[in-house]
Amino acid sequence: MYYSKTVTDYFNNPRNVGEIADADGIGIVGNSKCGDIMKIYLKIKNNIITDVKFKTYGCAAAIATSSMATEMIKGKDISEATKITNKIIINKLGGLPDNKIHCSCLAEQAIRAAVKDYVNKTKK
Ligand code: FES
Repeated sequence: MYYSKTVTDYFNNPRNVGEIADADGIGIVGNSKCGDIMKIYLKIKNNIITDVKFKTYGCAAAIATSSMATEMIKGKDISEATKITNKIIINKLGGLPDNKIHCSCLAEQAIRAAVKDYVNKTKK
């Protein structure tokens, strides 16, 4: 299977792996196609994502896309972060094989879930 140089780099050296103990928003999503899971932790101040960590129990494409997505949302406003789509992430990574496109949905969905969690918590 062909992976771009960037995908291979982000898989071998994933950025922002880990957990945030006092996260302001947590998103956990599963991939309906393969059962793999991504968990994302956000620290948010004044609606800006100040820190982000992730854990992905999935394939190389899932780890690379999760890793790239965390870099893309760090420092962004939460409304901007939720506009990031799997297509934007794939483009940044130099593409993905067709049968791996579904793997890139984890990051997009997990970011939205984590922001939703934050919004719900702050409403209370
Ligand atoms: Fe499950 Fe890629 S095969 S996320």
